[in-house]
Amino acid sequence: NNYCVIMGGGIGSRFWPFSRKSLPKQFLDFFGTGRSLLQQTYDRFSKIIPSENIFIVTNDLYASLIQEQLPELSPNQILLEPTRRNTAPCIAWASYHIHSLNPNANIVVAPSDHLILKEDEFLEAIGKGLKFAEKKCNLLTLGIKPNRPETGYGYIQVDEQKDGEFYKVKTFTEKPELELAKVFIESGEFYWNSGLFIWNVNCILKAFNELLPELVAKLAPGVGLYGTDKEKAFINEYFPACPNISIDFGIMEKADNVYVLMGDFGWSDLGTWGSLYDLSPKDNNQNVCLKCESLTYNSKNNIVVLPEGKLAVLQDMDGYLIAESDNVLLICKKEEEHAIRKFVNDAQIKM
Ligand code: GDD
Ligand code: MG
Repeated sequence: NNYCVIMGGGIGSRFWPFSRKSLPKQFLDFFGTGRSLLQQTYDRFSKIIPSENIFIVTNDLYASLIQEQLPELSPNQILLEPTRRNTAPCIAWASYHIHSLNPNANIVVAPSDHLILKEDEFLEAIGKGLKFAEKKCNLLTLGIKPNRPETGYGYIQVDEQKDGEFYKVKTFTEKPELELAKVFIESGEFYWNSGLFIWNVNCILKAFNELLPELVAKLAPGVGLYGTDKEKAFINEYFPACPNISIDFGIMEKADNVYVLMGDFGWSDLGTWGSLYDLSPKDNNQNVCLKCESLTYNSKNNIVVLPEGKLAVLQDMDGYLIAESDNVLLICKKEEEHAIRKFVNDAQIKM
């Protein structure tokens, strides 16, 4: 009864220029392990979920990349969206699809671009979550102990009420402003949402019905076609009309049956260059040169990412991000990386 949905349709714009619209970060192998983040995600889940029950939802653009990176998937395990509509429509479609195959499925919904360092602890948490999903109609998320007022995450405040290790969620706040994130961190009452969700298929479809009826109005007419050869034509016609909204804003912030299981499994969402820097091995002067060689003179705290085989020579550089990929070279202060969205926008070469 256990299924997994891997969401792989984001474009990873904060990692520009390394991550491009044509090759987003989930398809990249940052640490030279030989497996991309997506492949690692698939490998992890196939240890506890029958591999034929693992689905990838991504954009039409990435159909051939998926086939290349995961040749073991059969075409009916790849759900291809005609347009990007963020994670709520992605999850809703996958839920209808899986429901047509198994109306009592328990589903793990996972991002495709996270790093998990402690796999055993991770799989144990997923296993517990799948059991929990069987018991009652609840929406479970895995929570992470936060260590900084990061504004790119969802924040979870827990209630005293709990069911074993599972805490009832009191409030869920997606991507707060910095001031609010600071208040959350200082209070010590909040956890980060890891973006990994576990629920029964009926339970998430019920939540969509109640909280996102405008999305259900577009996709529910396809019941009867999901799982058949008419599915893709239906999606191509109706998916683009779905509201563009994330599961976090659309469901998690509003639902009143959300629970959280805390996890300590070496999680990183590799969301920014800064997070990649934090996780990477450094030289004596705290420089990171990913997949490249470097010669440094009076230089510290830099992160350099170059096409394979290049030598980086740095002099008098402190706290820089230097990234070259394809036709773009980016040099900026590491702490100014939030400006990357602006750079991408201003660059003539979009993404
Ligand atoms: N199929 C599909 N279609 N996948 C998508 C789409 C889409 O339109 N948009 C995003 N994804 C995929 C991304 O590739 C990623 O694997 C996952 O869905 C999550 O999307 P992000 O865009 O990376 O979300 P986020 O990082 O801003 O926020 C989420 O994750 C945080 C933790 O990393 C939220 O769940 C936050 O609450 C959470 O803290
Ligand atoms: Mg993310």
